[in-house]
Order: sequence, then C-alpha cells, then structure tokens
Amino acid sequence: MLHPVVLSGGSGTRLWPLSRKNQPKQFLALVGERSLYQETVLRAAALPDAQAPITVCSDDHRFMVGEQLQAISVDSGGILLEPAPRNTAPAIALAALHAVARDADATLLVMPADHLIEDEAAFRDAVAKAKVLAHEGWLVAFGIEPDYPETGYGYIRRGAALGEAGYRIDRFVEKPDLATAEGYLAEGGYAWNSGMFLFSAARYLEELGRHAPGILAAAREAYARASSDLDFTRVDEAAFKASPSDSIDYAVMEKTDRAAVVPVSCGWSDIGSWSSLWSVAERDANGNRHEGDVISVDTKDSLVRASERRLVATIGVEDLVIVDTPDATLVARKDRVQDVKAVVDALNAAG
Ligand code: GDD
Ligand code: MG
Repeated sequence: MLHPVVLSGGSGTRLWPLSRKNQPKQFLALVGERSLYQETVLRAAALPDAQAPITVCSDDHRFMVGEQLQAISVDSGGILLEPAPRNTAPAIALAALHAVARDADATLLVMPADHLIEDEAAFRDAVAKAKVLAHEGWLVAFGIEPDYPETGYGYIRRGAALGEAGYRIDRFVEKPDLATAEGYLAEGGYAWNSGMFLFSAARYLEELGRHAPGILAAAREAYARASSDLDFTRVDEAAFKASPSDSIDYAVMEKTDRAAVVPVSCGWSDIGSWSSLWSVAERDANGNRHEGDVISVDTKDSLVRASERRLVATIGVEDLVIVDTPDATLVARKDRVQDVKAVVDALNAAG
C-alpha cells in the first residue's frame, strides 16, 4: 500500500523574516489560506489508495504539526519526532521503519512539505507510473523539465526507457556548480530532481544499508528505542544524534544503481526563496505582489508584504522584495534574495 511521507524538518531560512526557527516556512500560509504543510498533507491524502500520511519533523514543532493536522481533519499515519535535524536520509529511514512495522510491503511516497503543485491530476498520473516501477524494485525520483541552470537542485540524466512508465537514471548529480549545470542544460536529456520520491520502504532500507550503513544503523536503533504518545513517536535522542547527517540525494540517489525517473509536468515549484514565491504568486498588472496594507506608486515587479499593524508604501522602485514584520524588515533586490541566508547566519552568530 502507498504510505505518503511528509518531510517537514527544514528551517526555511531564506524566507526570513517571516520564516523563523519556531515558525518555519512550511507552517505559514504563504500562498493561500492553508500552510504549505497542510496543502502537502491534503494532496497526499487525496491520492488513490493512500494510507494516512506519516509526518517526520522536529520535536520542537510537534504542537504546530498536531494543530495543523487537526485543522484540516486528516487522519495521521504517525508523527515521527526528531530530537535534532540529521537531513533527509535518516528522516526517510525512520518513516520506512515505521511503515514496514505496519505493512511489510509498504510503498513510500516521499514529499517535501514546502512544494507547490498546480496540476494535481498530472501529479497523480506520475505517481501511478512510479508505483509500477517501485514494484519492480526501482527507487523512483520525479523529474522536472529544467528551465534555467539552478544550482540548488539535483540533476538527473535519463538513461534507457523502462517500459512506458519512466527511465533508468544514468546519472544523478546533487547540486552541481553553475558551469556544470549550464553544461547539462546545453547538453539536454537532464531533468531537475523534484525532491519527491517513490519506492518500496524495504528497498530503501536495503539501499541505505548498502551505501550509508551508519545512517541505517542509527535510525534502526533510534526507532527501536522510540517512545510513543498518541500519534507521536519520539525517537531515541542519543541514538538518532549519533547518525551521520546526509540527504537522500547524496547518500542514496547518487550512488544506487536501482534509480529510475518518472518525468512529470505538474506546475511544480519549490518555494525556496522570496523570488520563487513572487514568481508563483498572483500579481497585479504592474507585476507586483502585495500582501497586507500596501500602497505602491510607480512600482514594478516587486513583492511587498506589510505586517499587521503598519502600512508600507513604495515609490519609483522595481524588482524589490520588501517584507515587514513586527520586529524585523527586509529590503532586498529580487535577484539577491538567496543571500537572506547570510542575514540569518549573521543573526545566529550574534546569538
Ligand atoms: N524531517 C526532516 N528532517 N525533514 C527535513 C530535514 C530533516 O533533518 N532536512 C530537510 N528536511 C525536509 C525539508 O523541510 C524539505 O521539505 C525537504 O526535506 C528537502 O530538504 P531541503 O533542505 O529543502 O532540500 P533542498 O531543497 O536543498 O534539495 C532537495 O530538493 C530539491 C528540489 O526542491 C534535493 O532533493 C534536490 O535534489 C532537489 O532538486
Ligand atoms: Mg528545498
């Protein structure tokens, strides 16, 4: 059976000052009424034959996750709590162990909590194809047609066709440098890795054991010694913290020879930064996205977000991101918003 797994452990630092340590971006209503996490859970629960979604998140966010699930009345397949972040390979291992304990033949659909999908029907078709490949033992990634040399993504080179459903992965390269990414686009035949995966839980554990045995051993130990309370499963702190920190992309997908890709064109976007949020949001005739109390005069192609208590006005500017909150204001050129991370690093360093 299909067990969706929602990964919700990221901190979303590039959406500062709205996204904060205690309130990371996946729990914010950034584009609609519901948070990205809630949208992801609903998308997962609506898939044919899907079991209740499993969430893997930080122990610090357990109340938020509990409340957000309750607000959308979706049954939970369990909330696995991590005492510290160890990136996605161990998080997915916990979900795999949890699913296998209930269903030895569990198939996992791994979904990051911070993505948008516009065309859910196209997504469902791709999931159906991926299931076929997963039953044959493949670890399936969903590939997105790339449109610029993004260095924050993984790149997948398609190999031989596997029937109608997808392709073998010839090469998986996580976050190449700019020159390499430009080369891939020029060469053709590459897809972006969407960060969503579908595979048999048992097969994932097997491949993890082969390529990153330290992560598998730590996850097994942490899960075996977990304590449970209602929907929450808190894994053992010492055992989990002993895990190496690595992503599924580096730890498994770059290395395994069981990787396949299913191409999907479903209006996918990763809400990684203010500029990506601007590009997916509805904008007015001047290309502006306004939120809250905003007045703009002669302003173009900007994202301006006012906080609850204060008006924000702009005159004669373009390509800016302005985000006001009660205790911090960001003003940045839209093409520099990746560097918001540097501000957060500076704040963290200052304590
Ligand atoms: N539970 C848990 N624990 N979740 C985590 C952790 C963790 O320690 N670390 C990250 N996550 C979650 C994030 O919240 C996000 O939903 C997802 O896992 C992916 O992590 P990111 O940190 O956002 O990864 P990325 O964006 O740098 O790269 C991945 O996604 C790209 C597409 O958006 C990779 O899979 C790339 O290959 C891919 O192109
Ligand atoms: Mg991401």
